[in-house]
Amino acid sequence: MHNKKGLRILFVGDLVGAPGRVMLERWLPKLREEYQPDGIIVNGENVATNGRGISRRRAQALLAMGVDFITTGNHIWDQRETAAYIFEEERLLRPANFPSSCPGKSVGFLTCGESTVAIINLQGRTLMRDSLECPFRSMETILTYVKTRTNIIFLDFHAEATSEKSAMGSFLDGQVSGIVGTHTHVQTADERVLPGGTAFISDLGSVCSVNSCIGFTKGPIIQRYLTQMPSRFEVDQDPPYVLSGAYIDVDRKTGQAIAIERIKIIDQNAI
Ligand SMILES: [Fe+2]
Ligand SMILES: [Fe+2]
Repeated sequence: MHNKKGLRILFVGDLVGAPGRVMLERWLPKLREEYQPDGIIVNGENVATNGRGISRRRAQALLAMGVDFITTGNHIWDQRETAAYIFEEERLLRPANFPSSCPGKSVGFLTCGESTVAIINLQGRTLMRDSLECPFRSMETILTYVKTRTNIIFLDFHAEATSEKSAMGSFLDGQVSGIVGTHTHVQTADERVLPGGTAFISDLGSVCSVNSCIGFTKGPIIQRYLTQMPSRFEVDQDPPYVLSGAYIDVDRKTGQAIAIERIKIIDQNAI
């Protein structure tokens, strides 16, 4: 078992289709035993069978496994029912800087014993198609009220560009406990506690087929690059599968990060 230093939150990157669900279900009991997390946050924007969005059924299955909050990103509305379902489920978050008329919450509060932990979901703008509010200014506004409730604050920053994620890390250093990037589906090896006490990783990576193209079969993606024509992406089901994430230990009193450690599990037998 890993030496636990404070309150610990486990983060898992974008779950892609059935491989994402199978791997999480298979490994969550072992992850709990090994890391003893106080809270579990997963990004579920690709957990639908076709890798697009998250249905009620899939969200409920993740919550039934013991996931505390599901963060998302640009694929949040890909399943038509999600816009209605998100009103019912406060543990399903969408990026905060979407237009304010969008349904759903972007901040969740998790009770861990005597402590309250805030989870914020936000999306980047660099190299992304959506036209969103400035994520930096959005965070300034969100923090004014989140900080009145707790100083243990985590952000899932769903963004394409490492530069934007890195800038957010520096911008928020010392103001939040941890920032985990999602969206690229490829884990980065830059995890560290920043000088001001914020744990940071540019991207958690994903839970998907290892030899895929970010979770999808290679053929249609290569075709799209070769022809610049639309093609239908399909979730790659071939093993082995990978589960990528990180855990962050936080001082319960100060909200400052004590440690961040990357997790990457490759399972030859999961299917
Ligand atoms: Fe994703
Ligand atoms: Fe995404």
